[in-house]
Amino acid sequence: MSIRLGIAVALIAGIATFIFTQAPEDQAASLQSRTAAVYDSAPVEAEFIPASALAATGAALTGKELYIRRCGACHSVDQNRVGPRHRGVYGRKAGTVPDFRYSSALKKLNLTWNEKNLDRWLANPTAVAPGTAMGFQLRDPSERKRIIGYLKSVSK
Ligand code: HEC
Repeated sequence: MSIRLGIAVALIAGIATFIFTQAPEDQAASLQSRTAAVYDSAPVEAEFIPASALAATGAALTGKELYIRRCGACHSVDQNRVGPRHRGVYGRKAGTVPDFRYSSALKKLNLTWNEKNLDRWLANPTAVAPGTAMGFQLRDPSERKRIIGYLKSVSK
């Protein structure tokens, strides 16, 4: 009886140890310290916003705020970055910012940016211009609408 009890206790202790050493917090912490070591030289610590939090706050954001969050990593209104600058994009022919190096997919795309094709573009650029260099999709139709409104406002 006491041997059985001993085995039972050992088993429970073993399982508990296993569970606690596998705790996700621990894994996250060790991953974080490893990541910190790798990115030690990075000048600014990146702000980490979980996708779920972004989606939750998205509803309250204006077109401009959404533009900064969703597009700002690659675009700005007045400067070419990874993607071309956007002032004047609404009503402009695709692929025509003179000092930006577009993919051939975008250069040969014969279309003028309006509400309808900007909406299709943002939902899935590859479907509009197969082979495009813009690797980004915005799934939320309401966010697309607000961002397009903003692009319009910087194109007057
Ligand atoms: C990961 C980087 C990236 C993100 C994020 C991104 N884009 Fe782009 N975008 C590009 C690149 C690169 C191009 C040029 C594509 C090409 O040459 O094929 C482009 C091109 C475009 C064009 C065509 C412009 C023109 O002059 O014809 C529009 C419009 C556009 N992006 C809008 C947006 C908007 C609005 C967002 C945010 C909702 C966004 N993009 C997010 C990289 C990005």
